[in-house]
Parts: sequence; structure tokens; C-alpha cells
Amino acid sequence: MDDQEKTIELDMSNIPQHIAFIMDGNGRWAKKRMMPRTYGHNEGTKTIRKIALEANRLGVKAMTVYAFSTENFARPQDEVQFIFKLPKTFFELYLKELIENNVKISLIGHLELAPEATQNIIKEAIRQTKDNTGLNLCFAFIYGSRDEIVCSTKEIAQRVKEGLIDVDDIDENYFQSTLMSSHLPDVDLMIRTSGEQRLSNFMLWQLAYAEFIFTPVCWPDFDEKELHKAIWLYQNRDRRFGGLK
Ligand code: IPE
Ligand code: IPE
Ligand code: MG
Repeated sequence: MDDQEKTIELDMSNIPQHIAFIMDGNGRWAKKRMMPRTYGHNEGTKTIRKIALEANRLGVKAMTVYAFSTENFARPQDEVQFIFKLPKTFFELYLKELIENNVKISLIGHLELAPEATQNIIKEAIRQTKDNTGLNLCFAFIYGSRDEIVCSTKEIAQRVKEGLIDVDDIDENYFQSTLMSSHLPDVDLMIRTSGEQRLSNFMLWQLAYAEFIFTPVCWPDFDEKELHKAIWLYQNRDRRFGGLK
């Protein structure tokens, strides 16, 4: 433990409401261990459990995890198929514990493009946790932010066309209410693991005023201590939202 880690003391009155993770580096983590990329993806699911439980304990309201992007279809078929089986592994192992901890599961993305068995597992987890009031653990699965924005735009255009709303009814709040992620508050803190410093089509609208933290740690190695470090960094940032302080 280094000096900084020893002295981390979080301000419990300033915990980010919504933390979004770009869980990156599973493949490289596995490669370093001479293992197939799928091994890294599997290990990554254990990190989701660990971080969700800790975020919930800290009082974080929402945590979004980028699990599969619309662009990830460009990967080899066997890797895509492996990732699509992970919800089953994840929920079989951890759903009971997540329920005991009052965690609610939600999803943004095109679940309908996943195999039916995967769809059913996720829908069941959402159903079983729908009344939970703890952390909202949202999976961004088959998700792309540009796609999300285009879907909203089409929906709004349709409503205007049908005369349900007027063009002047469209403002930022209205637009936000049509997004797949409308059930989530704005992101306060975005953490990307593995050293890459880009958004890769993740929550472009919701990240407008988020604080960004990029860590070299790969997702399977990200742990409670790394989460505390990130929240500590967040708490020491000066969020101005365009104003002055
Ligand atoms: C993130 O890890 C998980 C997904 C994108 C599904 P990667 O699979 O991108 O791992 P790297 O970036 O190749 O190491
Ligand atoms: C972003 O990671 C998508 C997920 C974490 C699911 P990628 O590994 O796919 O992103 P790029 O290709 O490096 O931008
Ligand atoms: Mg990657």
C-alpha cells in the first residue's frame, strides 16, 4: 500500500450519484497471462460484482457498466458469442447476492439483438429486482451512444408527425426523457480502465458534465481500493458547471 492509499478518507457527503465505467482491458489482461481473451472477460464479471457491492455500500445511486458496444460486433464471432453467454454466468453466480443487497438491475441497449436465452436471463434479473431501492446497476449492452441519440430523435419526430407534441415542446429535459437511459441521473464520474483515453461511443449526452478518470489498471484488476482512489480524485475536483467558484 502506498502513502496515498493509506490516507484515503472519503467525504461521505459527496459520493457521486452515478458512476459510469468503460470496463476495458480484459483481453490485454488475459494475454499478459498467456490466456485466451475470453478468460479476461470472465474475470471481468467478478470485478462487476465486487465494484457494484462496494458502490452500493458507499451509497452510489447508479452505476452503468459498458459491457458490449454496437461496434463490438466487429469482433470475431466466437468472442461475441462468449460475451453473450456471460450474463448467464454472472446472474447465476451473483443475482441472489445482489438481491440480498437491494441492488436493482437495468439495461440500456438493443437487447433484442442478443440470443433469446441471453435476453431471458437479463429480463428475469430485471424483473426480480424491479422493486429494489439500492444501487441501480445498469448494463450498457449492445449499446452505442450515437444510436441511442438517433433512436430518440426518430421517436420525437414520430410524436411530432402524429401531432402528439409540438416542435417547441422539445427542450433538453424532453429529449433526455426519451433516451434509453432516461431512468438514470446524469453521470458524475466516468472511469475508463486499461489506459485508453477515449469514449468509444459511450453516453455522449449523459457525460456532458461528468468528471473523467482514466486509469492504467485493466478491468479484471480494478478493485475496491481503485474505486476509492477514483472517488477521492473526484471529490478533489472543482466542478463548476460553467459558473465561477
Ligand atoms: C473490454 O475489454 C470488454 C469489452 C469490450 C467487451 P476488451 O475486450 O476491449 O479488452 P482489450 O481492450 O482488448 O484489452
Ligand atoms: C469499449 O471498449 C466498449 C466496451 C468496454 C464494452 P473497446 O475496447 O471496444 O473500445 P475501443 O475499440 O478500444 O475504442
Ligand atoms: Mg478494449
